[in-house]
Amino acid sequence: MTLSRKAACNTHGQDSSYFLGWQEYEKNPYDESNNPNGIIQMGLAENQLCFDLLESWLAENPDVAGFRNGGESIFRELALFQDYHGLPAFKNAMVQFMAEIRGNKVSFDSDKLVLTAGATSANETLIFCLADPGEAFLLPTPYYPGFDRDLKWRTGVEIVPIQCTSSNGFRITAPALEAAYQLAQKRNLKVKGVLVTNPSNPLGITLTRHELTLLLNFVDAKGIHLISDEIYSGTVFNSPSFVSIMEVLVDRSHVMKSELRNRVHIVYSLSKDLGLPGFRVGAIYSNDPMVVAAATKMSSFGLVSSQTQYLLSAMLSDKEFAKNYIVENRKRLKTRHAMLVRGLRKTGIPCLESNAGLFCWVDMRHLLTSNTFEAEMDLWKKIVYDVGLNISPGSSCHCVEPGWFRVCFANMSEDTLDLAIQRIASFVNNTTSSSENIDGYSRHLSSKNSRRKSSLANWVFRLSFHDRERER
Ligand SMILES: Cc1ncc(COP(=O)(O)O)c(C=O)c1O
Repeated sequence: MTLSRKAACNTHGQDSSYFLGWQEYEKNPYDESNNPNGIIQMGLAENQLCFDLLESWLAENPDVAGFRNGGESIFRELALFQDYHGLPAFKNAMVQFMAEIRGNKVSFDSDKLVLTAGATSANETLIFCLADPGEAFLLPTPYYPGFDRDLKWRTGVEIVPIQCTSSNGFRITAPALEAAYQLAQKRNLKVKGVLVTNPSNPLGITLTRHELTLLLNFVDAKGIHLISDEIYSGTVFNSPSFVSIMEVLVDRSHVMKSELRNRVHIVYSLSKDLGLPGFRVGAIYSNDPMVVAAATKMSSFGLVSSQTQYLLSAMLSDKEFAKNYIVENRKRLKTRHAMLVRGLRKTGIPCLESNAGLFCWVDMRHLLTSNTFEAEMDLWKKIVYDVGLNISPGSSCHCVEPGWFRVCFANMSEDTLDLAIQRIASFVNNTTSSSENIDGYSRHLSSKNSRRKSSLANWVFRLSFHDRERER
């Protein structure tokens, strides 16, 4: 065997439909002039709506991109900088940006911030610091498919689902939390904490104050940690407005044990709010000095480059720019979100009512041939190969109900989104008016290479049966 057990271990999840959809897109990407029948990528939570604002700022501040300060080159200084604590000016700019996004209702101390190469690294680092191999974190379903890789793969930590359903709009409840805790115990897994995304990926909803209080009470009672991944905190475009776990913690400090403060940690990143996933800028925020110290040591494996820190510290320290950007970004996301929701509604496809994120959680249960994950996969394959849209099936997010899909709306032009909506509309019309598609689709599938089919089939099998087996 060439690879180590860890490297070969499939908890990475790369054969999930979430990643397979990306591969299919790469083989046949839509391009308005060169490949107008190609697949439109709607499975990527990127924010491309405000590049013009970032580019204008760069044009107005040529010194920054040219690595100059007051006209003097700082190239050598940046090239040599390697303090793994990060540039103080950048950390200050980050905490102020985080506060601005939260309407300055809470403030953050830059000494409690650890820089990481994106939220991916922040999440893995936190899990590494808080749990040993074989211990568990509870996560509400549906959850971001990348978490199987980020939280489990290298750390050896397990994820136990907190099962949320459409019956209450996928909200977290006390019985669901308790059931997940009991399930972990039944599997002999020691629970070290709960991890939530707020706003939620893939639901696009913000957690309510009630849910946040419930979570705090739960982790308090169990003596465990709470990680709040707030990577989408700046994407909240409709009411109710965003409430950070840090706000609830401050508001309830009189009734909460003070040591609970040290068990609540935030993950953040500029990948979504600023639309810069390529810059790899993330952060951990924790009140616990031991966690901050351990995470800082760990951060050596995923530092943010000094030129990126320099550039973004100048950009984010421009208070007026940062303020306007946040407002304009929300406005544009709101318009896009409304466009997708309206377009889908016209075709009879509802979305979970949402107020945040770069995607909608779309209900296509009525388009399934049966209430199973196999039928969900069949529908997904049709949508990818026949309709030409890569969307993410709910099963890739560990949703317990077949028929839900995550559809992204901010990583393309308005015209492309319009075309995607047209494609869906004609698919729905054809599907409901004839059963021909099914036969045509079978023929289409049989001509595709069998390796892909078997890897998909294996994945569906593992997801729908294996996970359940383990939950019993
Ligand atoms: C909830 C959540 N956490 C973390 C990440 C990873 O983000 P980054 O690009 O900052 O590593 C994503 C990316 O989609 C995400 O949706």
